[in-house]
Amino acid sequence: MSNLCVIGTGYVGLVTGTCFADLGNQVICLDIDEERISKVKQGIMPIYEPGLEQVVAQNVKAGRLFFTTSYEEALKDAEFAFIAVGTPSGVDGEADLQYVRAAAEAIADIVDHPIVVINKSTVPVGTGDWVAEIITKRRNERPLDFSVVSNPEFLREGSAINDFMVPDRVILGSENRPAAEKVAELYQSLRCPIQITDLRTAEMIKYASNAFLATRISFINEIANICEELGADVTEVARGMGLDKRIGRAFLDAGLGWGGSCFPKDVKALAHMAVLHGTQPQLLQAVMEINRNQRRRMVMHLRKTLGGLNDKVIGVLGLSFKPNTDDIRDAPALEVIHLLRNEGAVVKAYDPQAMEIVAKYYPTIPLCHDPYQVAEGADALILATEWNEFKQLDFKRIHQAMRQPVVFDGRNAWNADHLRAMGFRYFGIGRGNL
Ligand code: NAD
Ligand code: UGA
Repeated sequence: MSNLCVIGTGYVGLVTGTCFADLGNQVICLDIDEERISKVKQGIMPIYEPGLEQVVAQNVKAGRLFFTTSYEEALKDAEFAFIAVGTPSGVDGEADLQYVRAAAEAIADIVDHPIVVINKSTVPVGTGDWVAEIITKRRNERPLDFSVVSNPEFLREGSAINDFMVPDRVILGSENRPAAEKVAELYQSLRCPIQITDLRTAEMIKYASNAFLATRISFINEIANICEELGADVTEVARGMGLDKRIGRAFLDAGLGWGGSCFPKDVKALAHMAVLHGTQPQLLQAVMEINRNQRRRMVMHLRKTLGGLNDKVIGVLGLSFKPNTDDIRDAPALEVIHLLRNEGAVVKAYDPQAMEIVAKYYPTIPLCHDPYQVAEGADALILATEWNEFKQLDFKRIHQAMRQPVVFDGRNAWNADHLRAMGFRYFGIGRGNL
């Protein structure tokens, strides 16, 4: 059993803290957002993440998991301080490290016992050294016994607990191997491969992994667009490619492209790092451009099919950037809505979990109480996020409700033959032979 403090109680911090508590440690999760901490103390989750509420409740009840807004309280007995604050995109595409800096400064100001500081946030290569420098300089004549370890997180929203508890690997980077080994012990019971390397390499493994996954998606989207023109079906192409063990099937789903709080900002930040250090990230630039184009292409198809978009009523199913999360950061659906409204379309939408947050940040998007209301009087219906509840809709009811039975399946989740047989005009992504 170890004493842990997790700084930042968002998707990563809350899941990390909760899972470490579940593994038997004493954990305090800290956030500067008072409302967030007050809610979570009452058992109300600040994010939608399947299964999280129950594991939080179990560990709070067992006396292993605590929440606070006080750095003093959080760091008092901490042997390990995990930094899991946000690292959003700055104005130039670089990672904005102001929250990481604030966390490092707080550690320097408060802690007076040996501590291992662990960067779990996704941070540019060199940030571990920078955090060490901040702490060392700030302590000045009162040296602190500390080490910095990079421990990038690979969980996905929507399956975060399982991803944390059953990881493919744990990556640890440090200039102080014993410190990295101490962190490795926290993960020992997960029985997964643990790779210990230097700080900068660990930081790069995170960016390279996200960029590679984004590259696979942009690759299949480019193939999808070619399929569309040449009369092939990209879903079968992906299946055929994926059967090759060297390629694999994961992350080859063509669609509206990748969004979310990480791929967009991380690919951008990696490209920014590359340019800053004099290399030309041509592949990364293309990966980002193909992704932007996926949304524009969908709008272009709609415009062509409906003979212009002005005053056309378009229903959008799904607003979160992927199913099983309420996260709308860089959600493809929102970009498509923006492009459609720019051309005069009247858009309405529904999402199973993200409507509260959409209403807060995009109050002008009309929201419906179910998919059938979205279809009412619509000239076209777009499937933007493949939530399970959209897979088996009452399509007869949808057909009757729509002004024109036109469906754009932005995630290739619907049965094209079935919908066509019902009288819909069906369009998927990269399904030129259908
Ligand atoms: P988030 O925005 O959900 O949460 C960040 C939290 O940090 C917020 O609650 C914020 O109030 C808090 N915070 C900000 N400054 C603080 C400070 N000085 N002290 C204490 N708390 C502070 O972010 P997230 O999605 O959890 O991402 C966190 C980091 O993890 C990012 O670097 C991200 O790239 C990385 N990451 C995210 C995911 C994911 O699926 N979301 C997965 C892997 C890695
Ligand atoms: C992603 C990575 O998968 C995690 O390993 C990583 O920890 C995380 O980013 C992060 O660094 O934050 P996440 O963003 O939660 O996780 O979601 P993914 O399942 O990777 O999906 C990202 C986007 O790609 C979504 O918009 C999804 O719809 C899209 N996608 C995914 C596709 O378009 N096609 C696919 O085949 C897979």
